Amino acid sequence: VQTRIIDGNPIARTVRQGLRQRVEALRALGCVPGLAVVLVGENPVSRIYVRNKIKACAEIGVYSPQVDLPANATEADLLGRIRGLNADPAIHGILVQLPLPGGISGQRVVESIAPHKDVDGFHPCNLGLLAIGQPRFVPCTPAGVMKILEHEEIPVIGKHAVVVGRSNIVGKPMALLLLQSGATVTICHSKTLDLTEQTRRADLLVVAVGKANLVDKEAVKPGAVVIDVGINRLSDGSLAGDVNKHSVLGIASRLTPVPGGVGPMTIAMLLANTVLAAERSLSEQRVATRT
Ligand SMILES: NC(=O)c1ccc[n+]([C@@H]2O[C@H](COP(=O)([O-])OP(=O)(O)OC[C@H]3O[C@@H](n4cnc5c(N)ncnc54)[C@H](OP(=O)(O)O)[C@@H]3O)[C@@H](O)[C@H]2O)c1
Repeated sequence: VQTRIIDGNPIARTVRQGLRQRVEALRALGCVPGLAVVLVGENPVSRIYVRNKIKACAEIGVYSPQVDLPANATEADLLGRIRGLNADPAIHGILVQLPLPGGISGQRVVESIAPHKDVDGFHPCNLGLLAIGQPRFVPCTPAGVMKILEHEEIPVIGKHAVVVGRSNIVGKPMALLLLQSGATVTICHSKTLDLTEQTRRADLLVVAVGKANLVDKEAVKPGAVVIDVGINRLSDGSLAGDVNKHSVLGIASRLTPVPGGVGPMTIAMLLANTVLAAERSLSEQRVATRT
């Protein structure tokens, strides 16, 4: 097989173009979508992520104030700021950049965000809605993977999908979305005894672990679609996914590269969730003023 490498950049660009039009329509009605990006401390990688998110917002006309807290901020400080953002009508989405400094409970912070402003989709309410097939906000990375599958016209119904990784932010919601779309889903993790045997059964293999070269050609069924979510910094400073790209070339029918595959989709879907939050808030306002 000739492996087709799926470039996520043009797909993300198409998503962003569609969003720009929706932002213009909202602005014409007097509503500027707002995403608050909260950063605690000085983690240099987090700073880069936050800068990229704010830049992407600006490009489509989304207002995105950065809310900075010092590295020694307490959990109470952060919860106080989130309370303010929950109550702020100019803010439709709230994103707290992870990881948080030690001493702050990520779970309590996520639970403090108003569910209708939880554009990351990490609040238990939103993950629960996803689990019952009534999603409100879908976590951005798995949503981006679904968008890639849709754009590439990759069939999901009736296929055997194997997801490696079971985190609440990637693996679990990914498996739920594939299940909802009609795939038969297997979820693998660090306690899976026969990983290669499991992944070899996949028509569609999604790997979200964070270990370079975890998956090679032995682990891939000929013709399978392979989606590599992993991001690993190698000792030479370069980035790699969880899949050994050279090994699976000629085996997989399609493969997302790292960087440039799933990564660009994640920010695009964050923007999509923010625009959706603003649209919902505007339509609720209109219902409220009518009654
Ligand atoms: N492209 C993007 O935009 C994007 C976005 C988010 C994350 N990522 C990347 O995706 C990867 C996963 O992120 P995450 O937040 O889900 O990570 P995580 O919370 O660390 O979860 C990793 C998962 O992998 C499983 N695992 C660990 N070692 C394994 C092994 N040897 N075999 C099978 N499963 C194994 C773990 O199993 P247990 O549950 O048993 O421990 C866990 O479920 C990371 O590389 C991250 O950087 C990329």
